[in-house]
Amino acid sequence: MSQTTNGGANSLVIEGVDAGYGSVRALEDVSLRVDTGETVALLGTNGNGKSTVMKCILGLVRPTKGRIVATIDGVAHDLIGKTTEAIVDLGIALVPEGRRLFPKLTVEENLMLGAFRPKARASIKTNLDFCYTTFSRLAERRQQLAGSMSGGEQQMLALGRALMLSPRILLVDEPSVGLAPILVSRTIDAIKELKDQFKLTVLMAEQNFHQAIRIADRGYVIVHGHIAYEGASATDLNNNDIIRQLYLGT
Ligand SMILES: Nc1ncnc2c1ncn2[C@@H]1O[C@H](COP(=O)(O)OP(=O)(O)O)[C@@H](O)[C@H]1O
Ligand SMILES: [Mg+2]
Repeated sequence: MSQTTNGGANSLVIEGVDAGYGSVRALEDVSLRVDTGETVALLGTNGNGKSTVMKCILGLVRPTKGRIVATIDGVAHDLIGKTTEAIVDLGIALVPEGRRLFPKLTVEENLMLGAFRPKARASIKTNLDFCYTTFSRLAERRQQLAGSMSGGEQQMLALGRALMLSPRILLVDEPSVGLAPILVSRTIDAIKELKDQFKLTVLMAEQNFHQAIRIADRGYVIVHGHIAYEGASATDLNNNDIIRQLYLGT
């Protein structure tokens, strides 16, 4: 399949980024990297800047300082100053927080809308088949309106839609939000499965620490817009005091 033949490096480097909304400073001196084939977790509770990092990568928020470089199939691209469309065209897909589906369109229509990246158009059929094979529930429900599906099904659809872009780098913003615990596990498992199948490089923002580190190779903790801790492995994160304070209240 075309989407599994990713040659070359696909990585992301963020260096010294400041960003905000008007006078609200949301990120300060944020640096992080995701190497080829890694799953990196960006961990933090509400309002600490996770989504803003995602928005900076996609050009939806403009950093006032710093660099963001994505390497796609071995070619480095400076993302700052590029339009969101150009960034997506490179092969960077975001599964946004809250999923942002088109509720009045069917499952299949939502998937087809994901395939607007020119390079993905050639592989629409393969990608659609792949989505339906991976998420059999989507195949059964292809004519159902997206808005009438359960939260877990909608999250699968949001992941499927991102895959229709044939991405190299997948950004997933808080996939667990609003899902029952059993569906959170399934969603996290699905991200791991997709990453393996598509050989993706994944940056996942999560508040749900224990679920995120099940599939993350390593991670960062963001507190008040600042990287407070960089964990070299899931074990390292698990044994850290900052995490205990943030997540376990001890
Ligand atoms: N559109 C916006 N306008 C003003 N402030 C915002 C906006 N979006 C986010 N913020 C602020 O930026 C900070 C980081 O928010 P966000 O990146 O959404 O955090 P997280 O995703 O970790 O919950 C918060 O203080 C939030 O209130
Ligand atoms: Mg968020």
